[in-house]
Amino acid sequence: MPVSARAQALPPYIFARMEDDIDAMRRENRLVVDLGISDPDLPPPHGVAAALVQAVAEPGSYRYPPYGGIDGLRQQVADWYRRRFAVNLDPATEVLITGGSKEALIHVALATTDPKDAVLVPDPGYPAYHIPSALFDLEEISVALRPGNHFLPDWTEVRPEQWKRIRLGYLNYPNNPTGVLAPDNFWRQTIDLAARHGWTLVSDLAYVDIVYQGRARSVMEFPGAKDVALETLTFSKSYSMQGLRLGAVVGNAKILKAMYRVESQINAGVYVPIQTAGIQALKSGMEPEVLSQYRKRRDYVAVQLARLDFQVPPPPATLYFWLPMAPGVSGTQFSRALLHKAGVALTPGAAFGPSSDRFVRLSFTAPLSMLSRAFEAWHRALPIT
Ligand SMILES: Cc1ncc(COP(=O)(O)O)c(C=O)c1O
Repeated sequence: MPVSARAQALPPYIFARMEDDIDAMRRENRLVVDLGISDPDLPPPHGVAAALVQAVAEPGSYRYPPYGGIDGLRQQVADWYRRRFAVNLDPATEVLITGGSKEALIHVALATTDPKDAVLVPDPGYPAYHIPSALFDLEEISVALRPGNHFLPDWTEVRPEQWKRIRLGYLNYPNNPTGVLAPDNFWRQTIDLAARHGWTLVSDLAYVDIVYQGRARSVMEFPGAKDVALETLTFSKSYSMQGLRLGAVVGNAKILKAMYRVESQINAGVYVPIQTAGIQALKSGMEPEVLSQYRKRRDYVAVQLARLDFQVPPPPATLYFWLPMAPGVSGTQFSRALLHKAGVALTPGAAFGPSSDRFVRLSFTAPLSMLSRAFEAWHRALPIT
């Protein structure tokens, strides 16, 4: 039977492919420490599991949920924005609940673009940003995030005729994979560009709570944001609830209405007990102990990487180190060699964009004992390439 060109054009999902390689090695009884995928290993906030279990036991909890989310969770998201950023959102029109943020980041393209429009994607950028161009017949316009520009896009690199075609653009600060935050003037400048050229700015705020130095900003804090922007939230990183699949999108009411149309045709809403657990998570907030564990790991990894001659500062935010490769070595080559020689999995930079294979990403979502094993094995396996 024929398979669509659309499906064939999709790259294999990098983390699924890496999982296959790791499984194959484990079947050969090799110990593999997976520092590739970002899969938080610390527990959700206190009370989340109990709220989930109690809600599952409620009669009627297995019925279809409301499409855009239960009122209580929409309200809680709006309350969180007010507490956290002094931003007012109308829970009825400016908040939508989604099954995690990955699908929202992809489906937003269905609500904002038509075939042949262009989408602005940072390189490096979270792999899901690259999917709308492959699935929905859009042109992808990459904008490089370079160390010399603090891993911010240099908007002067986008040509005037490209601005005319762009209808959607993704940004993500605190940034996966580079770990940096964006300054206020950058947000102001970008909102201005989105307004001037008529594109929807999507700010992916996945790492809002995982910040060690400085403060994450919401795009919604800046004047004019609600005219041009959406922001995605996820319960996966702050609250380690990634298996439950829960997220939210907030911002421009007109675009959210279009997103609701799309989502209600494709999805059937998020299981209500999961949303109830989400209310509890927002009320509790991220556990301070979780952040302090991540900070300890970050500091430990920084010391170990310096011993391996990587000249990288500890990231001010997120769960990642973005490691530059020696001249002539690609991230793909390096990560393959490290996996086979030392049993340590990292993510090649190519997963994040076509010009990013001069880097690899190390994720410290593993306990200190596993990190220590990984670095011991790495040292023993030197030289890697
Ligand atoms: C920047 C960024 N956005 C979104 C996501 C997706 O999170 P989820 O789909 O679990 O909400 C991730 C996950 O790693 C991420 O790193």
